[in-house]
Amino acid sequence: MPIKSFTQKFCIATALLVIGGLTACGGGSSSTTTTNPPPPPKLGQAAAAHHIKVGAAADSFYLSDASYSSILGSEFTQLQAENEMKFATLHPAATTYDFSGGDALVTFAQGHSMAVRGHTLVWHNQVPAWVTSGNYTSPQLSQILQDHITNVMQHYAGKVYAWDVINEAFNDDGTVRDTVWYDQPGIGFAGQGTAYIEQALNWAHTADPNARLIYNDYNDEWMGPKSDAIYAMAQDFKSRNIPLDGIGFQFHVDLSFDNPNALASVASNFQRFAALGLELHITELDLRLSDGSAASLAAQAKLYGELAAICVQQPKCTVFQTWGLTDKYSWIPGFFPGMGWALLWDANYQKKPAYTSVLTALQ
Ligand code: XIL
Repeated sequence: MPIKSFTQKFCIATALLVIGGLTACGGGSSSTTTTNPPPPPKLGQAAAAHHIKVGAAADSFYLSDASYSSILGSEFTQLQAENEMKFATLHPAATTYDFSGGDALVTFAQGHSMAVRGHTLVWHNQVPAWVTSGNYTSPQLSQILQDHITNVMQHYAGKVYAWDVINEAFNDDGTVRDTVWYDQPGIGFAGQGTAYIEQALNWAHTADPNARLIYNDYNDEWMGPKSDAIYAMAQDFKSRNIPLDGIGFQFHVDLSFDNPNALASVASNFQRFAALGLELHITELDLRLSDGSAASLAAQAKLYGELAAICVQQPKCTVFQTWGLTDKYSWIPGFFPGMGWALLWDANYQKKPAYTSVLTALQ
């Protein structure tokens, strides 16, 4: 009988550990030869059987940290630039592109047989002042965005398999967010809802017809006004053959997420997008805590495992990615004051209980 639930897997894993421990205790003196058990699989290896890529957001600056690069290169089958493929970094002046950080990440990924996910082409944050304060007209902004998408995607064609083309374009109430790209002044579709998103997807598809094109957001993980609006857009785009291949769900969450209603809502939400034929990517998972006590780390491990299990149980969920790998470099303390401890390795590169529960769920 296939072992399906996370709890079943966790119990079996725990039982095996206990048996292993007892054997080790009882068997010390008389045995002659001992065969070491095979090492446990790495995260990416474990998930491969489910066709899930296990990713981490990364920064080229940290690759010289040996512990960082060794974990990144061995545990993960995908990486994504945490910042180095955003507009402001790649395109700091009107006629200047700087691909150095992104290229270093791609080189690392290729050297470790990892896939690369691109992030992000159309977003309201980390847009340089030359764009936001340039007093451009809509036709000019349209040209700027089309050129940016085209140049960046062609530079990374064949190297980046999927792009977060649009990031965070909806408000939590499901209305379209006011941004420089939508209506301030926008690229020419102000007041026309998702038409500017459609335009960006079409440009992206022309720039690299082989890349998978993703819409990515936060607070779209469960059923609600925001995911309803994204679902309506996706349904419309699929019905008209607009090139949209998947939805990204960021999953910057805390322990309040660990309740049966929220988890059931995520599974149902995933299912409705899957039914449209879309891929589902967990793109930026981290689970912030207000302290690093054993109890908090155990609660964190439980929820991490439950989320990994939702991905395993949904065939269209093909990416399970965390927003970094070590608490040493996590963005959480800087953006959520007083919070931290959000990732699978602690600040000293020790595996946390959450690592084990994710590995167990992905097997
Ligand atoms: C964050 C990075 O982690 C930080 O280093 C940076 O200062 C700000 O952006 N949603 C996204 C990501 O899509 O790009 C953000 O990344 C986190 C929230």
